[in-house]
Amino acid sequence: MLLEPLQPDEMQEFEAYANAAAAAVEEELDHLLPQVDDSEESRLFEAMRYSVFAGGKRIRPLLIIATNEILGGNKKRALRVAAAMECLHTYSLIHDDLPCMDDDDLRRGKPTCHVQFDEATAVLAGDALLTLAFEILSDKDTHADPMARVRLVSLFAQSAGAQGMIGGQMMDILAEQRDKEVDYDQGALARLQRKKTGALFSACCEAGLILNGGTNEEYHRFTSYAKNIGLAFQMVDDILDVIGNEEDMGKATQKDDDAGKVTFAQLLGVDGARRQAEFLCGQAADYLRPFGDKAHMMRLLAKFVVARSN
Ligand code: IPE
Ligand code: IPE
Ligand code: MG
Ligand code: MG
Ligand code: MG
Repeated sequence: MLLEPLQPDEMQEFEAYANAAAAAVEEELDHLLPQVDDSEESRLFEAMRYSVFAGGKRIRPLLIIATNEILGGNKKRALRVAAAMECLHTYSLIHDDLPCMDDDDLRRGKPTCHVQFDEATAVLAGDALLTLAFEILSDKDTHADPMARVRLVSLFAQSAGAQGMIGGQMMDILAEQRDKEVDYDQGALARLQRKKTGALFSACCEAGLILNGGTNEEYHRFTSYAKNIGLAFQMVDDILDVIGNEEDMGKATQKDDDAGKVTFAQLLGVDGARRQAEFLCGQAADYLRPFGDKAHMMRLLAKFVVARSN
């Protein structure tokens, strides 16, 4: 079913929730990231903090926090997992922006990490954020049960790795050299984007389930929700590359076409891609029906994914 568009009062309600969640995650991140000091490696700590605290919507952490809330879980644990996810996501952005990848100068409204520091420091800051994510997950403060910690580590590794996000990034780069007319239909592109972006969204909901021991039915419903909004989120990112502006987005726009990227905006046109994203978010919300009012915020999140302008 198609979702009703996000109303102004719903937008306000969602933003208040999202801002509170972001503030809580940022406080946690501040504890977990190494402090800048007078050591030789402190330049690395500075670069890690620079990129993590440059801003960002903190959508993935919000997904973890909201899933955990529906399941009645412990808030502190969810915040640690949310912080780990934001470290991992920020690493992916730092590397995505490198000259050998998308070659971008602006991220989250600031110079990209390699522009502010240098390429080597940016590669290392990304590496260090990725490994920090696993350090956080494997710490006993994240969960008392070692089995739950191992499952979280495995989940993050699989979602971020060769079969997940990085596999999708490889496909994204290779697509630049391929004949899009011949090699890409909607199915092939959806596969790429489900890996590149969908895998981490799905991991966010799954992490909430691991923290709280969800049932098979809950796994199915939450991960289906997340896969759909993850794909829609990337579609809207591609649409905003065409119609958005640098100031709102905090990153360069009108770049994908010139770079030879394959996107839904290019395949279906902006309106067609938007209709597809709306359809996916409606489907996502349907999966959460049995949770009733408890899933209110996640329904608003599904609406936000299509309504966002940054
Ligand atoms: C950007 O992600 C990369 C994509 C997967 C489209 P976000 O749009 O979540 O970036 P931040 O975290 O808000 O900067
Ligand atoms: C990046 O996709 C996805 C990951 C970082 C895994 P994009 O390259 O479209 O993201 P932006 O537009 O640079 O944020
Ligand atoms: Mg990219
Ligand atoms: Mg990019
Ligand atoms: Mg993009």
